[in-house]
Amino acid sequence: MDKFIVYNSKLKGDVTISGAKNAALPILSATLLTDKLCVLKNVPDLLDIRTMLKILQTLGKEISFKQGTVVIKSTGKREKYTAPYSLVRTMRASFCCLGPLLAKNRKAKVALPGGCVIGPRPVDLHIKGLMKLGADIKINKGYCIASAKKLKGAHIYLGGQFGSSVLATANVMMAAVLSKGITIIEHAACEPEIIALGIALKKMGANIEGEGTPIITINGVDCLNGLDETVIPDRIEAATFLAAALVTRSDITIKKVNFKHLTAVLEAMENMGAVFNIKEDSIGIKSPKVITPVSVTTLPYPGFPTDVQAQLMSCLCFAKGISMITEKIYPDRFMHIAELNRMGAGIQRSGPYAIIEGRRRLFGAEVMASDLRASAALVIAGLAAEDKTEILRVYHIDRGYEYIETKLRHLGAKVKRVKQK
Ligand code: EPZ
Repeated sequence: MDKFIVYNSKLKGDVTISGAKNAALPILSATLLTDKLCVLKNVPDLLDIRTMLKILQTLGKEISFKQGTVVIKSTGKREKYTAPYSLVRTMRASFCCLGPLLAKNRKAKVALPGGCVIGPRPVDLHIKGLMKLGADIKINKGYCIASAKKLKGAHIYLGGQFGSSVLATANVMMAAVLSKGITIIEHAACEPEIIALGIALKKMGANIEGEGTPIITINGVDCLNGLDETVIPDRIEAATFLAAALVTRSDITIKKVNFKHLTAVLEAMENMGAVFNIKEDSIGIKSPKVITPVSVTTLPYPGFPTDVQAQLMSCLCFAKGISMITEKIYPDRFMHIAELNRMGAGIQRSGPYAIIEGRRRLFGAEVMASDLRASAALVIAGLAAEDKTEILRVYHIDRGYEYIETKLRHLGAKVKRVKQK
């Protein structure tokens, strides 16, 4: 497992943001809804993307992936409908193959994703939504087995104890587009990635209104065409590079980004003292010499994204005062606290609350990456800490950040990857 060696760095210049992993994954699943040719551009070359492509191949698709463009053809072989545990367990988002497989083949067998370090990751809302559309669903030996003679539109309330669910909304949308009649999804997720999925499905011939709002209305159609679509910019990667600039007191520009997807993040960083120069598809950040402490709560979009919580915490470790982070989406998403405290941070956790006592300095150490966004948080802390930080198990970061060390080095960061046997 590779490791990163990171030293205290100053950043300058500009960096281009890649396509959004969390937009690409559901759209790739949506190609299961058609036998026609599908082309998806600006797809980031990530472990999670390659896992999804492997799953599509297992399900009978012919795949090519070159220079960010994925071309998907149907092999015409008997449609397969099992997404195996060996692949699903490595990437939870594979579960959003269930809806399209069921809608296209009237049957689907997808391994339950299980939990991960950020929390239990239940799928009750996915199952509830598909059952409302008329699916018969059984759980057997860790697999979710779904079948339906035909799917019929329904009025579905999809809110859970933590609010809306991104991939449950995606799963139900993809099943509903081929269901007979009208489906109304209430308490739908409003993330930009759901809007992107809705636009892609409409390009394939689906009849959808309201994507990006809490109420999505879908009028089922008999079949869908192919797709030629470009993936939207990755708002979480963008926020990660802004955090890297903030923590190193650097001024940089991030390019090929949609600032409208980052309102809550920009607001929080402005409260921390950052000044932004926003253009059509770029954001310049002027970082403060002293970081002001803030209180932030993670919420479903357009609230502050849980996927930026760890990165912001790293910045707040250097603030002049005490900050608070409340994690309302995944109350256990705090694996990075212990590692940051090993670097000399002063963070106390109580349930979904983290109190961060800003310090003047953190000290490099050997730290362990535990999940995708926590790994990014450790890189950010390492860029501002004294001496050398060694981050072990960086395959976590490879799941969600395309060429991150190359992009950071291009900005002047002292970071290198050490290949481990
Ligand atoms: C998506 O996961 C993202 N992944 C996650 O990003 C992100 O953290 C999450 O949305 C929240 O924004 C992808 O898009 C591939 P949820 P998803 O269903 O859809 C609970 C990353 O770092 N819930 O919106 O799986 C759940 O436990 C990843 O890129 C239920 O209770 O998340 C959580 O508390 C990590 N029942 C809350 O809802 C369900 O059936 C939101 O989860 C489903 C979810």
